Amino acid sequence: MAFKHWPGVRDVRFTMKIRRYLRGARKRRPDLDWNEFLRIARQFKQDDMGSFPERGYLYQLAADAPVNAQVVEIGSWMGASTCFLAAGLKGDGAKIYAVDNFQGLSLCGEDVAWYQRHFQRLGTGSTLDIFNANFAALGLSARTEPVISDSLAAAESLTDKRGTIDLMFIDGDHSYEGCKADIEAWLPFMKQGGVMAFHDFGSRASGVTQAIFETIKAGRFGEIVGVANTIIAFRI
Ligand SMILES: C[S@@+](CC[C@H](N)C(=O)[O-])C[C@H]1O[C@@H](n2cnc3c(N)ncnc32)[C@H](O)[C@@H]1O
Repeated sequence: MAFKHWPGVRDVRFTMKIRRYLRGARKRRPDLDWNEFLRIARQFKQDDMGSFPERGYLYQLAADAPVNAQVVEIGSWMGASTCFLAAGLKGDGAKIYAVDNFQGLSLCGEDVAWYQRHFQRLGTGSTLDIFNANFAALGLSARTEPVISDSLAAAESLTDKRGTIDLMFIDGDHSYEGCKADIEAWLPFMKQGGVMAFHDFGSRASGVTQAIFETIKAGRFGEIVGVANTIIAFRI
C-alpha cells in the first residue's frame, strides 16, 4: 500500500485538504451549510472519484436548484456524488434518480480495467449495497431512488419524467459513444432553464470532452453555469 494510503496518513491528508478547501468555500458561498458538506465528506474519506472543489460544486448546484428539485444522476458508483447532491437539495419532495448498473459496465476500455481492480478489492460485483449503506448512514435515503439499469434503458423506462428534471449530472460511460448517447437520451428530460452538468470534461477521458464540444457547437446547450476542475455545467 502506498504511504499516502496508510490510515493515519490518509486522515491527516484529508483533514489538511478539507480545511483548506472549506476556508475558501465559506468565503465564496457563506449562505451554504458547509458543516453539512463536511459531514458527507467524512463518510467518503476514502473516495477517489472526485476532488473537494468538484464535490463542493455539486453541493452548490443542488443548493441552487429550486425547492423540491427533481434530479437525475447517470453513474452513481458508491453514491458519493449522489450524497453531495442530495445533501444540497431543499424540500421534502426533492428527489434524485440515481441511474447505474452498479457493475462498472462501460464501453470505455480504460475504465474496464479500473473497475475490475476496484471490484476485486471490494470483493463484490456490484456497488449497490455500498451505495444504499452510504445513504442510510447519512440519513439521506428518502431523497434518492436508485435506478438499477443501463443509462439508455433507464431513459426508456422513465419517459414520464421528460421535461421535468431541474438538475442532471452525467458521470457514467466515459467513451465518446457512451457520453454522446447519454446527451441525446437525457436532454429531453431537462426542464427549460434546468442545469446539465458533466464530470471529466477536459480530463484524459477525451471522448467525454469531444461529445460535449460537439453539443456546444451544435448550439444545444445554453450558457455555461460554472466550471470546477473537470465538472462543467450548462443551462438548458
Ligand atoms: C465514475 S463512476 C461514477 C462516480 C460517481 N458519480 C461519483 O462521483 O462518486 C461511473 C459509474 O457509471 C456506471 N456506468 C458506466 N456506464 C454505464 C451505463 N451505460 N449505464 C449505467 N451506468 C453506467 C458505472 O457502473 C459506475 O458506477
